[in-house]
Amino acid sequence: MPETVFVDNIWNDFAHSYDQMIPELPCYQRQRDKILRDTRERAYVIDAGCGTGLVSEPMVRRGQRVVGFDNNEAMLALAMRRRDSEPEAVRARWTILPGDVTSFPLEVEGAADAVVMNNVLFYVRDPEAVLREAWTHLKPGGVLCMTSNKRPRPNLELVLRNSIQEWEAQGRWTQELQRAVSHHRTCAQRLTTDPNEMVTFLDTDQAVKLLEKAGFSEVLVADGDDYYGENFYVCMRK
Ligand SMILES: C[S@@+](CC[C@H](N)C(=O)[O-])C[C@H]1O[C@@H](n2cnc3c(N)ncnc32)[C@H](O)[C@@H]1O
Repeated sequence: MPETVFVDNIWNDFAHSYDQMIPELPCYQRQRDKILRDTRERAYVIDAGCGTGLVSEPMVRRGQRVVGFDNNEAMLALAMRRRDSEPEAVRARWTILPGDVTSFPLEVEGAADAVVMNNVLFYVRDPEAVLREAWTHLKPGGVLCMTSNKRPRPNLELVLRNSIQEWEAQGRWTQELQRAVSHHRTCAQRLTTDPNEMVTFLDTDQAVKLLEKAGFSEVLVADGDDYYGENFYVCMRK
């Protein structure tokens, strides 16, 4: 691995339950489906703040080339494990790097067809710098798909309550999920109360304005209904 930029933060504790539980969350699945819909024909994608690779994975599986990076070692280790379990042809399309979204790693090629930033922006102190990085790394006509929290103190308890209801209705509220949710609750509590953990919050209109300021020209999607109204999803073209 190249010289790292790893930080010691909550994601070290969070990584395992995150990777177990988040892909099962119906609201995460719906949000990810929007990203997959809006990046469908885009051959080269940068997954900035890729975490454990939950968005990258379906993209490489359907034939796209993805470069993902993240600044947490535990999350990235799970992304690498996920990549290693794929067949050789899929692995060949999937690059994983340590890196900070504020200044994309030098190894990340530009002229991307899409940049994805799923649930990352609330951790960064200078969102405008991050969006400019995304803009710089896109080809003209490329898109940024971005989601984040709308409220300063997101109601993660509401998200969990609604998710459990959905799991129960689907008969999927297993013991394994119950254990993961219990650990996740402890981390989420810290995440939403420690002022150093979540620092940036935008509603949908503010996100669009910030993207316009960073140079993006055309709004393709601007939703505020994800995660039971706690998250926005914006897709804009360069
Ligand atoms: C909620 S997770 C989302 C992960 C992934 N995008 C997904 O959809 O599952 C947030 C991720 O952002 C990463 N992150 C936070 N700040 C970052 C930064 N400045 N540079 C790179 N990654 C960052 C965290 O390490 C974590 O993996």
